[in-house]
Amino acid sequence: MTAIKAAIANLKGGVGKSTTTVMLADGLAYFYGLTVLVIDLDAQANSSQMLLTERGVQQASDQGKGTHHLLKQFMDGRATTAGPFIMPNAVSLEELRLAEEQDERKGWISALPSHPQLRLHELTLEEEWYSRSGTPTTLSDALATYFGGSFSMLDSLYDVILFDCPPHLSPLARAGLSLADVFVMPTIADAVSTWGTKQFSDWVGKFIAPDLPKRNFVLVTRFRDTRYSRQVLTELKEIYLKDRWFGPTIPESVHVLNAMDRAAPDSYNTFRGKYGGVKGDVRRLAERFSDFLSHRTGTTWQKIRD
Ligand SMILES: Nc1ncnc2c1ncn2[C@@H]1O[C@H](COP(=O)(O)OP(=O)(O)O)[C@@H](O)[C@H]1O
Ligand SMILES: [Mg+2]
Repeated sequence: MTAIKAAIANLKGGVGKSTTTVMLADGLAYFYGLTVLVIDLDAQANSSQMLLTERGVQQASDQGKGTHHLLKQFMDGRATTAGPFIMPNAVSLEELRLAEEQDERKGWISALPSHPQLRLHELTLEEEWYSRSGTPTTLSDALATYFGGSFSMLDSLYDVILFDCPPHLSPLARAGLSLADVFVMPTIADAVSTWGTKQFSDWVGKFIAPDLPKRNFVLVTRFRDTRYSRQVLTELKEIYLKDRWFGPTIPESVHVLNAMDRAAPDSYNTFRGKYGGVKGDVRRLAERFSDFLSHRTGTTWQKIRD
């Protein structure tokens, strides 16, 4: 088994990257019974909080787990495997935990979380690297090589690895993108975000993935059903990103906000309890992503729940 690696990335912040990461993780674990690892490369640690709660993120860090601790190993020149930095249990659905307790794993989520400390390490690293006449490109390459090595043993443990990337083209975002088989680009149906997707696509196509259209899954998020939004959506699909695979359009919904606001580690009994009125949207997201992979990479997964 070799894990499918997907980077969730966009130049812009606030377009739903972290939310999409968590919805994909939940959707693939629940409907397809897959073992998913979420790697949070963003110092904002949003997907980590959505999965583990804010307190859980701090606890993880106190136990020496997280991408900031792994980055420190790189800075100190120590080769290591990522295993000890992972929180093995980032599951928020009782249904999945119960199956596991009965020794019948039917979908699971683990997390290599982030922590605000990552920002400080990143700044220190960039300052040191550039002062020794390194460049952003050599740093991104060195990080990709280091992470690639430390993640290699994870390939046999997980079906899917999702990288929640920071916005912009920071060295960590570039490293995540270059390690990925495919990348998911969440965007919003407005003019400003559309320009952002064009710039980002051009850049990724040029520097990371020359076969970009084949590897790109676009997800329009936070959709408000107005005439203006529908027009932008049509332009995105028929003109700007014509050659890409589109996921279902995810509505702007308080159900999404609720699902991401995980108050306590044991908050949700069922998938419906977590996602309420957007359960169908998350199911369609998982289904479309699975279709995308089977068409573009040949990977096929079987659904185990409806
Ligand atoms: N479908 C949605 N409906 C309502 N709010 C959403 C939706 N998707 C994302 N949000 C909210 O929008 C904000 C940005 O989302 P986030 O996933 O953190 O974006 P990014 O990771 O790209 O910065 C967050 O406050 C999030 O809760
Ligand atoms: Mg984010």
